[in-house]
Amino acid sequence: MKPQIAVVGSINMDMVFKTPRMPTPGETLMGHSFHQVHGGKGANQAVAAARMGADVDFVANVGDDLNGKSCLQALAQDGIQLQHVRVVPESATGVAGILLDDAGENCIVLTNGANALMSLADIDNASNTIAKAKLLLCQLETPLTTVLHAIDCAQRAKVKVVLNPAPAQSLSDAVLAQVDYLVVNETEAALLSGLPVTDVASAESAAALLRERGARVVLLTLGASGMWVAAPDGAYFLPAFKVEVVDTTAAGDTFVGSFAVAIAEGRDLRAACMFAQSAAALAVTQLGAQTSIPYREAVERQLQKQ
Ligand code: RIB
Repeated sequence: MKPQIAVVGSINMDMVFKTPRMPTPGETLMGHSFHQVHGGKGANQAVAAARMGADVDFVANVGDDLNGKSCLQALAQDGIQLQHVRVVPESATGVAGILLDDAGENCIVLTNGANALMSLADIDNASNTIAKAKLLLCQLETPLTTVLHAIDCAQRAKVKVVLNPAPAQSLSDAVLAQVDYLVVNETEAALLSGLPVTDVASAESAAALLRERGARVVLLTLGASGMWVAAPDGAYFLPAFKVEVVDTTAAGDTFVGSFAVAIAEGRDLRAACMFAQSAAALAVTQLGAQTSIPYREAVERQLQKQ
């Protein structure tokens, strides 16, 4: 039986410019190439969960435009249920402008478009779907009120909640207390905890503080070095898989979607983290967001090699 996962989140068309380096203010820089790729944190996490073998229901908004049509077509090809995606006539689909330099680092500018118009009614319409899922996955590219409403809905139905608070914004202790698995990178952890996160020791302190503030399990990803796991029964470091970095876009989303599937299938926390790390490591070896998300077979193969 495939685990059922509900994802509430964003859909974007990513406009990716490959450049030798990041431009400085006022500079015109010749790029290497341009690629248009399906993205959005919500959509990427939904795709990752589907490619890892889950039945995914996606709650999202797109504009009534070509970008929206193309994004929905791609999601349908991944077998994602789209009954709760609303096409918003007065808005454009979200667009992300992504600069990707030769070192594989990126900078993203986002115009939220239809994502910003997700409403409480959109969540209410999907409440039965959320209530019957094994897990709810949320990020913060849709209005915070809608995310909190979806989390309430999941909690009432005793559905576990995975929150990836990206892009980072402050959250109250009451919200953190509703989160079963909080997945943060260094920037998000620093903003939420108020502590700088620069290495494993500072990750340990920030994760402990976020647990004190209410999150049950904190997964703090540390890029190429690995991740810090803080759970009720202990805390530990897991090193990352060593791979050649092409593009880090959507590596975090791949981690979150894959982690959700592993947990929904009943793997223990350590095994679920390693499965997600394997998926994220494969994602950074390819260009783009959804173009880089691997399929389960490759993820398992890499895990076995390790
Ligand atoms: O996390 C990567 C995603 O962030 C990109 O696909 C882009 O759309 C932005 O939302």
